[in-house]
Amino acid sequence: MKINRNYLRLPDNYLFSTIAAKTRAYQAAHPQQALIKLSIGDVSRPLPVPVVKTLQDASAEMGQRATFQGYGPETGYPWLKAAIRDYYQTTKGVTLTPDEIIISDGAKSDVANLLDIFDPHCTVAMTDPVYPVYWESNVMVGHKIKLLPATAKNGFLPMPNRHARVDLIYLCNPANPTGVCYTREQLKQWVDFALKHHAVILYDAAYEAFVRDPQLPTSIYQIAGAKQCAIEICSLSKTAGFTGLRCGYTVVPTALIARGVSLNRLWQRRQTAKFNGVSYLVQRAAAAVFSPTGWTAIQRNLRYYQRNTTLITQTLDSLNWSYVGGVHSPYVWVRCPKGQTAWQFFDYLLSHAGIICTPGVGFGKAGEHYVRLTGFNTYAQTRRACQLLNKVLTQFKQNI
Ligand code: MLT
Repeated sequence: MKINRNYLRLPDNYLFSTIAAKTRAYQAAHPQQALIKLSIGDVSRPLPVPVVKTLQDASAEMGQRATFQGYGPETGYPWLKAAIRDYYQTTKGVTLTPDEIIISDGAKSDVANLLDIFDPHCTVAMTDPVYPVYWESNVMVGHKIKLLPATAKNGFLPMPNRHARVDLIYLCNPANPTGVCYTREQLKQWVDFALKHHAVILYDAAYEAFVRDPQLPTSIYQIAGAKQCAIEICSLSKTAGFTGLRCGYTVVPTALIARGVSLNRLWQRRQTAKFNGVSYLVQRAAAAVFSPTGWTAIQRNLRYYQRNTTLITQTLDSLNWSYVGGVHSPYVWVRCPKGQTAWQFFDYLLSHAGIICTPGVGFGKAGEHYVRLTGFNTYAQTRRACQLLNKVLTQFKQNI
């Protein structure tokens, strides 16, 4: 039996599984200590009422012969695709056809599964630090990976290197983990680069709903030429609290042709062969998100998380502490105290403040000496975490 030996190049555990295991072990050893989770980007707000009501109605339909639903269309129900098409048109000024929108169970699976439609000998560019799923799924298939360091020097926003030869480019905007955001002008440079080199951009827009400045892009298709070179992956996990329900969508424009072949056709072909679609209940809930009442409720939740990240950034500002992100993103990328590695600072925050963060080095070597905090906890917990953070960082400052 021959195994896929590429798997042996992966760390033993997925980053967030390691953090969860460390947290469990710490909690077992310190059962009295209250812990505050600012690590994985998991939401704390419950689903809004219009979404819950729709789930209840759709469940009742499943129990009636006349309204019961069996297998649905593998790439999604037309009414959900139409709702997403309208969302793109009205909020982003981007015109899509329903065929270009393919419904999935979330961005994580799509950013990895999309590799199925590309050659196994691809060279892939991605930032360092990066969402671990990009790196790990490319290691699994044996792709050559070119890392683009995202550091303080380039504002954590690497730009294309004119001489690089790559087939695929992952861009996450706003970025996970740094929380920074490319401008339209910067994205245009990436699009022009991809068009010139016949590369395809895999654009992860999972955090687009957190962009507050209308001048910043919320879809790569707001950039001229992007429909000829980019696939956009999006998710309702963070936008609408679907981390537990699971629903996302991927846009593959019909204008995207690689070596004479439509990538939309290949992705639809892949999905119809390997995926039976998202459940009827979840798709009904997703459509409710895009209804007027659903959308209003979602905005309230987004503002709630934004208030949390503002609390974190205000705490850091008051200490004149170095960080980026937190404005157009639920993530704040915080410099560790002098002399501390990311894991050392993780342990320090856990043991001295009960705060669970994500060590930056878990997202790549260039993430060493940083940790990521999220605004996804409750306001009360975030406020408590900020008081504790203030205390810890003040002590570090005094000891310098
Ligand atoms: C993160 O914390 O980076 C994300 O929540 C992980 C994910 O979406 O899979």
